Amino acid sequence: MNVAAGNAQAAPPQYDAIAGPYQRSRQSPIRRYVEGYTFFGLVGEVTGLAVLDLACGAGTYSRAFAGRGARRVVGVDISPAMIALAQAEPPVAGCAIEYRVGDAADLPPLGPFDIAAAAYLLHYASDVAGLRRLCAGIARELVPGARLVAINENPAQPEERYAGYLQYGFAKSVASPRREGSTITYAMVSGRELFRFEVRHFERSTYEAALAAAGFVDVCWHRLRLDPAGVTAHGAAYWEEYLGNPPVVGLTARRAP
Ligand SMILES: C[S@@+](CC[C@H](N)C(=O)[O-])C[C@H]1O[C@@H](n2cnc3c(N)ncnc32)[C@H](O)[C@@H]1O
Repeated sequence: MNVAAGNAQAAPPQYDAIAGPYQRSRQSPIRRYVEGYTFFGLVGEVTGLAVLDLACGAGTYSRAFAGRGARRVVGVDISPAMIALAQAEPPVAGCAIEYRVGDAADLPPLGPFDIAAAAYLLHYASDVAGLRRLCAGIARELVPGARLVAINENPAQPEERYAGYLQYGFAKSVASPRREGSTITYAMVSGRELFRFEVRHFERSTYEAALAAAGFVDVCWHRLRLDPAGVTAHGAAYWEEYLGNPPVVGLTARRAP
């Protein structure tokens, strides 16, 4: 078994060390039948829109936006190794995706964009001030009225319920008592590889305040949704534990008009 562990510092070394195993873990049923289904259900129609895919990783969602008819797609990630994986993927006909290494909290003007996608970004902020900088950085790239669509840590999940995910190939843990800014560790198994990464816990009200301070309105939290094809593929019982105790949630907001 190969073991790759990220460190507890900034995001670049963390994902530079686990880029390959992380991307291979995207084959998991959860990614396919819950995360992607929920995410695209929230994003909706992208035809003709300019989409900023923040924390794009290896560009899985960037390519999907391009394939779904987006007019322009820019993928940004703080990890050069993740961007290198994205750039190695075959092009998508009809939309040249632009990939950039950068911190979503500190981007040059790239837009304007109609949608900012943030699948697993906000909980990488190192503290509350960092979360506010991230939200402000996102808002700067959006036209008034544009939407932010995120998949994020579930801040409403009690720490004593960070269990029961081994059957899905991962474990989630936090030192008790969990506090604002506490480090949450994920350990994931993908094939014969074990890898870890760390995110932060912020209270729901902290996310909402950071978004409001950045000029976002209509902040909504969304339950995960299961693609019916996932029931066909794995049976209904397989999903009960995960959906009954969701570790992540959907999050949407709109830049004030
Ligand atoms: C869990 S991965 C998600 C990748 C992709 N969105 C997906 O769903 O496959 C999280 C990504 O966030 C990136 N990241 C973390 N902090 C960031 C920041 N401040 N700005 C840009 N990217 C960041 C990491 O490098 C990593 O690639």
